[in-house]
Amino acid sequence: MFNKVNESKEYIISKINNKPKVAIILGSGLGDLANEIENKVSISYEDIPNFPTVSVVGHSGELLFGTIDGVEVVCMAGRFHFYEGYDMKEVTYPVYVFKQMGIETLIVSNACGGINSDFEPGTLMVIDDFINLMGTNPLFGKNDERFGPRFPDMTEPYSKRLMQYAYDAAEEYGLELKTGVYAGFQGPYYETRAEIQMIKGFGADAVGMSTVPETIAANYLGLEVLGISCITNMATGIQKKKHSHEAVVAQAKEAGVRFVKIIRRVLQKL
Ligand code: HPA
Repeated sequence: MFNKVNESKEYIISKINNKPKVAIILGSGLGDLANEIENKVSISYEDIPNFPTVSVVGHSGELLFGTIDGVEVVCMAGRFHFYEGYDMKEVTYPVYVFKQMGIETLIVSNACGGINSDFEPGTLMVIDDFINLMGTNPLFGKNDERFGPRFPDMTEPYSKRLMQYAYDAAEEYGLELKTGVYAGFQGPYYETRAEIQMIKGFGADAVGMSTVPETIAANYLGLEVLGISCITNMATGIQKKKHSHEAVVAQAKEAGVRFVKIIRRVLQKL
């Protein structure tokens, strides 16, 4: 995998003229941040050697390079979910490429369900920790020490320093920003009532189907991670109506304006 990742990296750096230090993974409905990128260069996943490709017709998958408020970034528009059938190495492949490119900071975002009764649809939450309920993880298997250690530490999977930047940004704008533990299920079904009650007991504040694999890989690779979740709905059994993907995306888009403000300010502080 080491050589493959380097091949992907070589191709990418031959196409871009900046050297980003920050990568941002955009969650469902949170893609508007990409509109803020100046001097944009986009590279389709399918053009990058060894990169996983997006199978769904009509879904773009591209890396967007450029600057946001003068900060050089790369945004992933379109992520790989485990529930789509990608294996964990594919789901996290871009993070390995980012690391080899010299990226030091990963910002991950997602749309998710709220469990904490302090939350409501539209709440933005800084992720403080995760619970991995996906049944596997990206580090399973033989380890390549060139990437990271066999037994990586997860004491602080989300950087306290970056969390503080996010709180400061929210405070400056008078925006509410909660904190919580994100539980990652495999999906793709929205959880059962009993599953939500179980993870509530475990200490989960929010639930989703992404973010955990990328966070694990990033910590393993030594990246500093900031995670921001948008609570798009209350989790199964907490909200009385049934879930709909359309409602999830619509709610994320509404919160996206606040999300963009906070992330831009965090970038300026890096
Ligand atoms: N559960 C899992 N994933 C989600 C949810 C949810 O309630 N809402 C948005 N993504």
